Amino acid sequence: MNPTKRDFLRLADLSLDEHRALFARARTLKAARSAAQVITTLAGRSLLLLFEKSSTRTRVSFEAAIQQLGGSAITLPMQDSQLARGEPLEDTARVVSRYVDAVMFRTHGDARLETFANASRVPVINGLSDGGHPVQILADLLTVVEHLGPRASGATFPDSLEVLRGKQIAWIGDGASNMALSWIEAAHLFDFTLRLAAPPAYRPAAADLSKLAKFPDGVTERGRVLHCDAREAAHGADAVTTDVWISMGQEKEAAARKASFDGYCVDAELMALAKKEAIFLHCLPAHRGEEVTAAVTDGPQSAILDEAENRMHVQKALLELMILGAFPSNT
Ligand code: CP
Repeated sequence: MNPTKRDFLRLADLSLDEHRALFARARTLKAARSAAQVITTLAGRSLLLLFEKSSTRTRVSFEAAIQQLGGSAITLPMQDSQLARGEPLEDTARVVSRYVDAVMFRTHGDARLETFANASRVPVINGLSDGGHPVQILADLLTVVEHLGPRASGATFPDSLEVLRGKQIAWIGDGASNMALSWIEAAHLFDFTLRLAAPPAYRPAAADLSKLAKFPDGVTERGRVLHCDAREAAHGADAVTTDVWISMGQEKEAAARKASFDGYCVDAELMALAKKEAIFLHCLPAHRGEEVTAAVTDGPQSAILDEAENRMHVQKALLELMILGAFPSNT
């Protein structure tokens, strides 16, 4: 076992200083790609992408990220592996972590994620679990910083955590979903307010809330989560965000969920309550006409494509930190 190996299963697995450096590094890597500058900090390194659920963005953005940094990706859907025929998760983790330098795992329960990470000798990155989607939130936060923070001055980027502090983010929809849980964690870590508009039956469980309220650096209270209705949540918000009402694995609940979330669609009327410079975020895939209208999804305040692109840039920075143990300073 590598005694220095670290995992990224939740946002709080990095310190605030590491998050600050990660956002800066992501912006450096984004600017380098835009300038067609080739960076090969992960040459010779391999990443395994292990999926127990479907994916488009996570798969392609991680594959592109490591390949552009000079490394290679191996993608293994669950149904093609011996896991589907009952091989223990621990055996799989012990074996594959002798082949590769890091593993991204998309799975169901957080217990599976932790079991895998505990058995792996290389870093494990959460690519979405029931308890959160932390790599997506990193991309979302980078998008907020780019759109609402001061412009970069040459190669110097504003302190992302300063930009995030005090922001008002509106979450409209399923407040117990993995995206909502990661937004809650982010509000506490990065000291902003999350205004959560969710039907009472779809609010986060108290146990989840207390797990996510991590107050770093000896601070006793930081960030806030306010329960409100959709209009209150959107009023004066810096960003409005949502996700599908029926996530992977919830298909049997579709009718009940659609009925419960009636009135929680992000439409132009709701966006008009937010600040005039507010952005709309959605991790995608989106269901136009359910959780968000087509006019908002494809409208002038929508930042969804920057958000999707930023997956790759933040994941490049994260892979460097996880695999190399630090951000390279000379590229
Ligand atoms: N947002 C996201 O994780 O997309 P995929 O499910 O396509 O990977």
